[in-house]
Amino acid sequence: MANFKICYPDWKPEKLKLREALCTLGNGYFATRGAAEESKNDDYNYPGTYLAGGYNRAQSKISDRIIENEDLVNFPNWLYLNFRPEGGDWLNLAHCQVHEYEQNLDLRKGTLHRAFVVEDKQGRRSKIESRRFVSMRDMHNAALEWTLTPQNWSGTIEVASELDGTVINDGVKRYKDLESHHLAPVESKEVKEGGMLLVVETQQSKLVMAQAARTRIYEGGKRVNIKPEIQTLEMAIAQKFRLEVQEGHDVKIEKVIALYTSKDKAITEPSLEACDNIAMAGEFDELLYRHEQAWEKLWKNSDIALFNGDRTQQLLRLHIFHILQTASPNSIGLDVGIPSRGWHGEAYRGHVFWDELFITPFYNLRFPEITRSLLMYRFNRLDKAREAARKEGYKGAMFPWQSGSNGREESQTIHLNPDSGNWIPDNTHLQRHVNAAIAYNIWNYYISTEDQQFLSFHGAEMFLSIASFWASKASYNKKRERFEILQVVGPDEYHTSYPDSDEQGLKNNAYTNIMAAWVLQKALVVLDIIEKSTKQDLLERLEIDDKEIKHWEEVGKKMYVPFLEGNIISQFEGYGDLKEFPWEEYRKKYEDIQRLDRVLESEGDSPNKYKASKQADVLMLFYLFSTQQLKDIFNRLGYDFDENTLRQNVEYYRERTSHGSTLSRLVFSWILSRYDKQESWENFEALLISDFEDIQGGTTPEGIHLGAMAGSLDLIQRCFCGIEVSHEALWIKPMNLKQIDKIKFKIKFRGHWIVLSITKKVLRVSFEEGWSSSVAIGVIDRIYEFKKDEVKEFPLHQ
Ligand code: BGC
Repeated sequence: MANFKICYPDWKPEKLKLREALCTLGNGYFATRGAAEESKNDDYNYPGTYLAGGYNRAQSKISDRIIENEDLVNFPNWLYLNFRPEGGDWLNLAHCQVHEYEQNLDLRKGTLHRAFVVEDKQGRRSKIESRRFVSMRDMHNAALEWTLTPQNWSGTIEVASELDGTVINDGVKRYKDLESHHLAPVESKEVKEGGMLLVVETQQSKLVMAQAARTRIYEGGKRVNIKPEIQTLEMAIAQKFRLEVQEGHDVKIEKVIALYTSKDKAITEPSLEACDNIAMAGEFDELLYRHEQAWEKLWKNSDIALFNGDRTQQLLRLHIFHILQTASPNSIGLDVGIPSRGWHGEAYRGHVFWDELFITPFYNLRFPEITRSLLMYRFNRLDKAREAARKEGYKGAMFPWQSGSNGREESQTIHLNPDSGNWIPDNTHLQRHVNAAIAYNIWNYYISTEDQQFLSFHGAEMFLSIASFWASKASYNKKRERFEILQVVGPDEYHTSYPDSDEQGLKNNAYTNIMAAWVLQKALVVLDIIEKSTKQDLLERLEIDDKEIKHWEEVGKKMYVPFLEGNIISQFEGYGDLKEFPWEEYRKKYEDIQRLDRVLESEGDSPNKYKASKQADVLMLFYLFSTQQLKDIFNRLGYDFDENTLRQNVEYYRERTSHGSTLSRLVFSWILSRYDKQESWENFEALLISDFEDIQGGTTPEGIHLGAMAGSLDLIQRCFCGIEVSHEALWIKPMNLKQIDKIKFKIKFRGHWIVLSITKKVLRVSFEEGWSSSVAIGVIDRIYEFKKDEVKEFPLHQ
């Protein structure tokens, strides 16, 4: 299949860390960056292995203050494999001549290949080809293989295969003053079947990880039995092999590992499981075959074929690949959420933000069981959210802006501005809108699946608890005769307080208020839908009585929304009083002003003073809701909403946004598609390359941006193809886009698999398989009853 490869034809040391993030291999349980096998942490390389949900807390002293952060831990590097000719140096590409270099990420098979020819100081040329994978089928296994060919020499070589637990968290420069040691030694030893074992434990969370590795050597296709010398250190173990190599003859070195942790289910203890696994595990090719089969199945249901040029297709597939490596069928039931930066690096410490909002639509229509598992991560932390609400004097549940192990607020209290070197208070935790995002995700999961069981037993409890929180957070303003929400921060993180005010937060962020009103309005619908027997019990348990429900209804109808002139929604109350920002002046003065907050802080200024946003805020409303839905929400609130509202708001805010978050392009592409298709497409293209080309200048090496990646796919399905799930049907209303000739993909709607193929002229819908024999599909403006195996074609854009 074409366009399933990302190829790098050269060795560019300054690009290696970006490639490592983009070539990360993972299986939804653990992930390993695409670092060179022979490398250790240095200027160009940063090997990293992360466990889904593998966190540890540590304290650091910053200017006489003790702060605590919870990090995604960099666990022992299982990749390390190296060689040296007798008397020579261990291979390091930075210290030898690299004659040829090629690196390919095969997205279809989930494998990473490297092939290169190097020459050392003594003129010895060697060719090395490597292949590796993190098994999607056998989630505790990963393997790598080296084929080494001396091209102009023969002699004795030493091969080192290591499990290296001396690693620290050093992947994000901004965090360098923070505690970076998270691991403590438990055990390292030789084990049966020629294996070695390294066991470590995280210092605070006491998470034990055992890695067992087996290294085998083959010559001429036959296994050669060489007894390795074992070197054990407290935090590392290595096997060293000595062997003779011949000019022009290949030697294969195969390393298979098993990784278990104390968080695994159905195990006795990690090291025993890892040793048993490694003793029984198949050889590289057997494991690879199973792994490729698993990927083939995943691609069958998740590919989006876009027939308009290699590049777009390739990048879309790269995005699908990384989403599935972060949360896959292996993740179901692991009790982990979806981190905004993947398990691909240490940025944002593997925390879970509102980005789920942009990610779950992809899963909802293909692997809804994964969305359910991600929602269960939130459900399992409901008590912590209740505690947080209670502490602030609210009812219900208040989920944190950043969530990690146990669901307490993990946002940092101070952060470093790398431009100025200053540590600044961080008030972004006041983004209470994350609660609305969770409710929105519950609703959309339900509407795509009609999973009554989940809604009645878990979803409703979270939904109603969030509604309770919003109702108690809203205060009544007698003068306005409306409810208000105070002391919050909206999605635009540049504004966290009023200029020259010591108080944190803002009043009446329009997005937050409208989302809270939506939650309160929808909570009444949820109460109608859930099983009657559980409803009463639930209301009693949550201490929600009729009076409170009446109050929700009232708040849901009387929420205040600030406006500027005409239909322009004010981002928050008082936004209109801020100064206009001199965009042109700053564009001339600085090469890059995406992160205007850092630029201004370095100048002793603050974005709080200006009408300048990091990312879409008000405009998020037009991203999440259709015009009709918004009309309904506004009308219920007693505000006008006319056809021009969208355009006027977009025009107003597009001039005042710096796109300091990759999510911003996504939202702009989506809303512009309604009236400026060319610019919408340009934003879509910017979104597609945002990680691949690291457009933020250095953030992708620290971890991919999963919200933007998943958002690009959602743009195709929900925006460009007009897929909308409603109570009565799955709607398809494709947009006429000159840039797209044909799109084909498969989606799952309430247990039915449906294949869609859309060209400029025809929409072809095939109902492949499903739980029942018919399904309701709406095309443009009419609903059709589809029977299983039925295929229908509809003319488009006539
Ligand atoms: C964005 C947030 C986002 C977070 C994690 C920030 O830069 O402003 O909206 O949730 O990154 O991706």
